[in-house]
Amino acid sequence: GKGNFRHFMQKEIHEQPAVIGDTLHSYVNLQTRAVTLPEMPLDFAALPRLTISACGTAFYAGFVAKYWFEQIARLPVEVDIASEFRYREAPMPEGGAALFISQSGETIDTLAALRYARSQKQTILSIVNQPESVIGRESDLVLPTLAGPEIGVASTKAFTTQLTVLACLALAAARARGAIDAAAEACLSSAITEVPAAITQVLEHAEPLEAIAHDISAVRDVLFLGRGSLFPIALEGALKLKEISYIHAEGYAAGELKHGPIALIDEDVPVVIAAPSGPLFDKLASNIQETIARGGRAIIFSDRAGLERIGDGAAYTVEMPTIDPFVAPILYSLPMQLLAYYTAVAKGTDVDQPRNLAKSVTVE
Ligand code: M6R
Repeated sequence: GKGNFRHFMQKEIHEQPAVIGDTLHSYVNLQTRAVTLPEMPLDFAALPRLTISACGTAFYAGFVAKYWFEQIARLPVEVDIASEFRYREAPMPEGGAALFISQSGETIDTLAALRYARSQKQTILSIVNQPESVIGRESDLVLPTLAGPEIGVASTKAFTTQLTVLACLALAAARARGAIDAAAEACLSSAITEVPAAITQVLEHAEPLEAIAHDISAVRDVLFLGRGSLFPIALEGALKLKEISYIHAEGYAAGELKHGPIALIDEDVPVVIAAPSGPLFDKLASNIQETIARGGRAIIFSDRAGLERIGDGAAYTVEMPTIDPFVAPILYSLPMQLLAYYTAVAKGTDVDQPRNLAKSVTVE
């Protein structure tokens, strides 16, 4: 049941510190903080390329992982939505591996993409929440997310546990490929273990988001911006909002703003920006200034240091806990989920069963 919560989605958002903790328990040795994966059916050191495919929110998890595998493990990654990948007839390298991400493990396009990769002799890995599912059964190795049942149609805890497993996998790949030294690995793996407590902090200070959501509930369009590994989080924020509040939203890489979408910006189109401190912060800060200079209402999520550097002019700023940039995409998923949730509540839409949508899409 929903316990003390009004909706399953709200309950599932609040379960995230616990289920990410459970997931970490099975992928990280919490004493040594070293990532420990099951025996792999492949050698990351010799892998020419990893191909990732999934749908919807699971695709965005894979898109974040592309940044991680490339930067930390120096592993070439291709990522595509499964409905495109399955028909592209993409050549796949000899000795390559393919990774499929799915909460249900039953999504038909993801399954078809898996079977295509199998026909191309790739090693098949999957990250699924339901290991007994067809995608799980057809994989050479299943890395389960321990999210527990997700009832709300809008995926929340499945997404952040997928990211958790992917972060661990990227670290394991980095080690196998000799791409990081022991000190860097220790630093990144301890960053992962800090995520549940940081999420708890976000959940305990969520009231400002209700006021922002109230404003958003009155508009027709919203833009979401991010850069680097936060770009997929902007896409996810936009998907979450349109899915449950029926407000039109688009996610953009902030650097693309001046190549088109900036024409949309005025006081009626709020711009939500995921802006953690990190290597791309200054670039993003100038994109924020471009937005504000055109009369846009910027809603900025950043940590204390970031907010100090951005200065005035935003419609709203929300302070996030300070965290290693590596795991920022996991943490910044939370305000995206909460904004969508409170906006839907303000509009009175059906949060758990949005119109026209099914929890798992088993027909093409
Ligand atoms: O069960 P799956 O993870 O394969 O489902 C994939 C998508 O259908 C799913 O993530 C969908 O986009 C969600 N409704 C998003 O909240």
